[in-house]
Amino acid sequence: DGCLDDLVRTHIALHPDFPNPGVLFRDITPLLADAAALRAVIRHWTTLLPEGIEYVVGTEARGFVLGAPLAYELGAGFVPARKAGKLPGTPAGLSYDLEYGSARIEIPEHALPAGGRTLLVDDLLATGGTAAATLELTRRFDVELLGASFLIELAGLGGREKLPGVPLTAVWTLDA
Ligand code: PRP
Ligand code: MG
Repeated sequence: DGCLDDLVRTHIALHPDFPNPGVLFRDITPLLADAAALRAVIRHWTTLLPEGIEYVVGTEARGFVLGAPLAYELGAGFVPARKAGKLPGTPAGLSYDLEYGSARIEIPEHALPAGGRTLLVDDLLATGGTAAATLELTRRFDVELLGASFLIELAGLGGREKLPGVPLTAVWTLDA
């Protein structure tokens, strides 16, 4: 609702031209540091989600910070999609292209059982590159994908179109 929109908006700091010229960086650390705001946002977020979530997959790094409390609140488990080279054993991995350069994410082997009812979480949906990669990697586990959910959806950058057929929710949607 409008109240939560305001709470999110007023707890995000805007930094023009970071990390690159022309990019407006939205810093969520003021929201994380405010106990009442963090609790209100996480609790409200759970009301937007489908029933029966068993696993929350969060993408490093900010998807960890928001995904873990969300999973805890839902009574679900948390599974990290990590940046490459941090996981032991034989993780499932996927390389993907960014606007400049490329990146690789990995999920621990056996972290998700086939059919596990799974939600993808991140702080931000912008171009959708990160979410699309997390989606493709998660699908390799043959999970039942219940949806993807974001604190902020930057509409108009094509992110939503990169997740066709995936039920998508956001706490706060704004025009890019
Ligand atoms: C940021 C943000 C999202 C992603 C969104 O992550 O946290 O994960 O970009 O952009 P996209 O939709 O265009 O892919 P980033 O990798 O910059 O840093 P982080 O490690 O702080 O999460
Ligand atoms: Mg991120």
